[in-house]
Amino acid sequence: MFWKALRSGVFLKKKNIVFIFNFLKALIKDGLVTPDFTKEYPATFHINIKKEFRGKNIGTDLVNVYLNYLKKEMVTGVHLATLSQAGADFFSKQSFRLLYEGSRSYFNYILHKDVPLFIFGKKLGDVSIFLR
Ligand SMILES: CC(C)(COP(=O)(O)OP(=O)(O)OC[C@H]1O[C@@H](n2cnc3c(N)ncnc32)[C@H](O)[C@@H]1OP(=O)(O)O)[C@@H](O)C(=O)NCCC(=O)NCCS
Repeated sequence: MFWKALRSGVFLKKKNIVFIFNFLKALIKDGLVTPDFTKEYPATFHINIKKEFRGKNIGTDLVNVYLNYLKKEMVTGVHLATLSQAGADFFSKQSFRLLYEGSRSYFNYILHKDVPLFIFGKKLGDVSIFLR
């Protein structure tokens, strides 16, 4: 994957060079170290619904389908990161637990401010009960 991207020349595009530079700068400033939740919450995901389709319960449905799939696969927990307050509000409503809150500066060169970073998690309980 990395080598394919390297060969494609994607890293030579100006906007990507600028992003990588700012990401490395943020790495030094923020540390970019977040606690590792993968042991207790091994699965992860990301949702990005096109603006015109938001607020129609699609996000809720996607989360429910995914959580049921994970339970069937005997996965014991799931975590995710979001950089927006709106995302945080949505996952609080889905009864995810806030595991970590911080901020990141890698978009400062565009937004001129730090962005929040939230990590949410949900335990999927005793999956053996689900399978009975
Ligand atoms: C966040 C996101 C996934 C929510 O999906 P959605 O389909 O718009 O949300 P739903 O229609 O299922 O809403 C479910 C509930 O969450 C609430 N909610 C949804 N978006 C919200 C927001 N931006 N702020 C506050 N509450 C929100 C809804 O009001 C609804 O509450 P209700 O049941 O009391 O009416 C979607 O808006 C999105 O893709 N946003 C941009 C990317 C992003 O932030 N992703 C999250 C990081 S993984």
